[in-house]
Amino acid sequence: MLLGATLWFGCATEKAGQTHSAIAVLSPTQGNNVRGTVTFTKVRGGVRVVADVVGLTPGAHGFHIHEKGDCSAPDASSAGGHFNPTGMDHGAPDMDMRHAGDLGNLVADVSGRARLTHVDRHMTMEGPNSIVGRGVIVHADPDDLKSQPSGNAGPRVACGVIKGN
Ligand code: CU
Ligand code: ZN
Repeated sequence: MLLGATLWFGCATEKAGQTHSAIAVLSPTQGNNVRGTVTFTKVRGGVRVVADVVGLTPGAHGFHIHEKGDCSAPDASSAGGHFNPTGMDHGAPDMDMRHAGDLGNLVADVSGRARLTHVDRHMTMEGPNSIVGRGVIVHADPDDLKSQPSGNAGPRVACGVIKGN
């Protein structure tokens, strides 16, 4: 329901044919069991990110958009580094200096499920810096939000490609 309302709001003033929403379906990397969905919706002033991920260990897990929409490697190394079109340092989602792809952490409950809703003011869904077509990665370990270049978040446990609707 909430997503439907957001879509309507986000699209009301846009021209036809542009991408207003996108989805990444996350699949586990080799040896893991993490899966889920992440939706991206254009809203006033940014992009709304809604994630629902299961199969995690309880606690924090680094959560980023990576440069390449390529999950073909068994460890998802094919997705490359953090999406960083503006040449900034790694940081936290609420910092001005951060990679465009820095979404911080997902926090899983005791059942291993993590849900997140966040309106991001660094991301765009249009032009050369668009997040559409790039990769979403969930990591085994927490993103410490400061270590360079990627928050020391450990192996990649799930990967998905952002596809425009
Ligand atoms: Cu990452
Ligand atoms: Zn980063």
